[in-house]
Amino acid sequence: MATLRLDKLGAEAAGVARTEARKLILKGQVQLDGEICRAIDRKVDPTTVELCCGGAALSHQANVYLMLYKPKGVVSASRDGRDETVVDLVQGTYPRRELFPAGRLDKTSTGFVLLTDDGTFAHQILAPRRHVSKEYFVELDTPLTQQMIDGFAEGVTLADGEKMMPAGLFAVEGEPNSARVVLRQGVYHQIKRMFGVFDAGVNELHRSAIGEVRLDESLLPGQFRELTAQEVEVLRSATAGK
Ligand code: URA
Repeated sequence: MATLRLDKLGAEAAGVARTEARKLILKGQVQLDGEICRAIDRKVDPTTVELCCGGAALSHQANVYLMLYKPKGVVSASRDGRDETVVDLVQGTYPRRELFPAGRLDKTSTGFVLLTDDGTFAHQILAPRRHVSKEYFVELDTPLTQQMIDGFAEGVTLADGEKMMPAGLFAVEGEPNSARVVLRQGVYHQIKRMFGVFDAGVNELHRSAIGEVRLDESLLPGQFRELTAQEVEVLRSATAGK
């Protein structure tokens, strides 16, 4: 595990600004493994050290992994001059974290967006060769056809000539205009463009799962929760060795 400077660790663990953490350290309020430490630049291993401030134990989480239910109208970006972003929805709870979305959903799409401050993890989830699947439910402006299902299975060639990897397309019982889509790629507007090849428009698009991790049904649009350690592990192992 990489080491961190004590002032950075203290700030993240206590949820305070780095300057505030430095003041507490210099005042002798911070203890490392039971000993007062006034060295703001002391390098510590956050996974093994016992950190206390003002007598209270602080726990440090190396990275944050969030499952957010993105509502319509919110953009999948960290910052945007005009629209509310997925990071705006969580930043109040994690003011000191540099969170960003691992993968995008269109402004009009809804569902599971994974937010993290772990760049390596995000890269692994997104790398096309790692093939982490994503599941979507769509509502079309026309009934689903066998031609679409076969076309997706074969690999759709988009209007600009780019050939997509084979994708799963499945009917939803009793809902002729609905479908479940499973992709292992993340090309811009991919699903809309794939259906466009069959002259079908996508009215609603919702992401329900990333790999084996499903969007928690108890979350409402705009709500989020931390991924459990097990869910992070499931996603990590989906990318391992690929
Ligand atoms: N494909 C799309 O067209 N839009 C999304 O938001 C996700 C996948």
